[in-house]
Formats: sequence, structure tokens, C-alpha cells
Amino acid sequence: MQPDHTQAFPRPERRPANRHFSSGPTCKRPGWSPSCLNDAFVGRSHRAKDGVSKIQYCHDAMRELLGLPDDYLIGIVPASDTGAVEMAMWSLLGARGVDMLAWEAFGKTWVNDAVKQLPLEDVRVFDAAYGDLPDFSQLDDDRDVVLTWNGTASGVRVPNDDWINPNRKGLIIADSTSAAFAMPMPIEKLDVITFSWQKSLGGEGGHGVIVLSPKAVERLETYTPPWPLPKIFQLTKNGKLQDGIFRGATINTPSMLCVEDAIDALYWAKSIGGRDALFARVDANFAIIKSWVENHDQLAFLATDAATVSPTSITLKITADWFTSASEIEQSRMAKALVRLLEDEDVAYDIAAYRDAPPGLRIWGGPTIDADDLALLTPWIDWALNQIAQDIATKEAVGHDQ
Ligand SMILES: Cc1ncc(COP(=O)(O)O)c(C=O)c1O
Repeated sequence: MQPDHTQAFPRPERRPANRHFSSGPTCKRPGWSPSCLNDAFVGRSHRAKDGVSKIQYCHDAMRELLGLPDDYLIGIVPASDTGAVEMAMWSLLGARGVDMLAWEAFGKTWVNDAVKQLPLEDVRVFDAAYGDLPDFSQLDDDRDVVLTWNGTASGVRVPNDDWINPNRKGLIIADSTSAAFAMPMPIEKLDVITFSWQKSLGGEGGHGVIVLSPKAVERLETYTPPWPLPKIFQLTKNGKLQDGIFRGATINTPSMLCVEDAIDALYWAKSIGGRDALFARVDANFAIIKSWVENHDQLAFLATDAATVSPTSITLKITADWFTSASEIEQSRMAKALVRLLEDEDVAYDIAAYRDAPPGLRIWGGPTIDADDLALLTPWIDWALNQIAQDIATKEAVGHDQ
């Protein structure tokens, strides 16, 4: 039964201490302030010994926090996560057939790259609507795969790695920007892992990070794509890996403020117990939302399969009758009104669903978020939902009287 929306819903008394629930850039780590950047190596060359040391320190800290195998490489590259994914696609694809998987906006971008931008001859696309995943059983071990480990725009993630044959011949390129540091990942079964600091670490955008398996490096050194590569995509020189990129000699000039900020976040992560502590924070955050959503009569996860619900980019659809019975345009208007109300009340910022996704809410539950803040947010969303519902009920009543 739907609630009686003509009754006022209690207005919560307390607001979350931190109201930044955006899915990227995400909220800074607890206790962050600009003074955390005081040690930044600024106003000097990033190629000076101490500049390179800073970048190397950042590499090492990321390696440790991710738990990378010793024979995997990690490097900072230009143009945020997009730069890292596209550098991998442009540098590695074409040697084999490619299977592209997409179930939300970012995966669709990589499909567009493969189908419309790169002159690839053998591409298969497996896509699914928002909320669903494509059928992984159709993938072929001889082909490369490009996918998004956690679909930030739909809140649907890859639920397991059972489908990955460790002896597969093709590479797996995994855009992992909203998964890395937030959830366990089968790193040893993946060949390229990309992310940006602006997700789980609450860092800054602009720089991407690329992780390469030995198999990916072998491909780089044995295959030269037939298309031109701009300098910012070049991982090899004369058929050899430019291994300096993975030892602090970045392709072009990085922001040392961003590097310092990433180091600060990595230091914080280590100080609270490393990746297990980050995963535990995500689990605690998700538990709050899950128990609230599971008992909700107006909200549900957009993900259709419980095993695929993302605990970081938590995406919700509105299931109330007053919402589902409205037209698409009206739904979008109501979802915007809901989000605006929460912003106007200074309760939550940037929690609208992704612009291409069905109208609803998307709440970041990554490791920099405090569970207490999510617990304080949910009653406000209930209140706001009922404000919108009441508005509609009032308008309908006035309409009937006329
Ligand atoms: C899955 C995914 N891929 C790519 C991107 C683009 O990231 P960036 O803006 O860091 O390049 C995002 C950003 O939210 C994302 O969530």
C-alpha cells in the first residue's frame, strides 16, 4: 500500500556533517583541508630528483594499497580515467578481435571509440539496458575484452570473476575508476586496470592511472597498431616499453598539487588499515542504504540483480505510484525537484542520477564517505520524497475541485 501523502512527513532535525555525496569528484577524505597540500613539490620541475621521488612515492603507495603483483606496472598518465582507458584501447587493440561490453554511459563511450573512432575490423558489442548486465557467457577467450568493472552511471557492477579463464589469450581492459580501492577486484585476471584519483580516494581529476599486466606489456612490445598515436598515448618507443613512465618519468607535466593530494589520500588509507579498511568502510556505507532501500515503499535499486548492485555509485529508482504513473518528462522534473529540495535544505549535493540514466538518485558510498552521514541522509530523502508527493496530491486535489 502506498503511504498517505496528504499527511506531513516529519522533518529530520539533524543534517549529515558532510553533505558531499557526488559520484565524482567524490568527497575528500575525513579531516582533509587545503593545508594537507603544504608539502606539495610546486614551483619546481617535476623531473627534478625530488619531484620524481614524489611521483614514485605515489606509485609505490598505490601499488601497496591495491596489492598489485610485483610484475604489474603502475603509472600516472594524462587526461584522467578517460585518458588511461583510451590510451590502452589505442595502444593495444587491433591485434585480436575485440568484445566490447557496455551497460551504461561510460561503457558506451568505449563502445563508440571501438566502433566509430578506431578502425577496428573485428568488434562484437554486448550491451544491456540501464540496470542490467550483458551476457558474459558469450565472451570468447581468444578475443580482447573492454569493460567497466563498476558502471558508475547505472550502479551495476561486475559481480564476480568466474567468467574469466586465467589462461585466456585475449586481454581484459577494465575501466575500474569507481571500483579501485573500494571493492575487491581480481587483479591477476585483468590486464589493464584504469582509474582516476577523483573517485574512491576523493582526490583530484585530470590525471589517470594505468596498471599493466605482463601480458599487456608483451602485447605492447610485440604489436604496433596501424594507426597514428598522439604523444600522450605513447607507451612504447621503437617497439620497447617506455618504462620510465612507470618509474616517475611522466609523459608530460603532471600537477604536483594533485600528486600531493593523492599521496595525502593514500597516506590516510594506509593509516586506517589499508584496502581492507577501505572495503569495510564501503560495506558499512552500503549496509545503511541497503537496509533502508529494502524496506522502502517508494525506492528500489536500479540494478535488477541484487548481486550486481554497486556499493559505491549507489543508484536508486523511484517506484512510488505518483512517480511511475507520470510521463517521462514529468518524472525527470520530479526527480530534479527532489534533488533540488535536498540541495536547498543543505542536506545533500549532487545526488541526481547520471544525466543519461533513468531519473532517480545516485549516492556515492565510497570509502571517503562516513556511514553516519548516510544514516542522517536517508530520513531527509524520505522527507523530500513525501514533500514532492504531497505537492502532487495537493495539485491533484485543486485540479479536481476546479
Ligand atoms: C566508469 C567511468 N569511466 C570513466 C569515467 C570518466 O572519468 P574521468 O572524468 O576521470 O576521465 C568515469 C567518471 O565518472 C566513470 O565513472
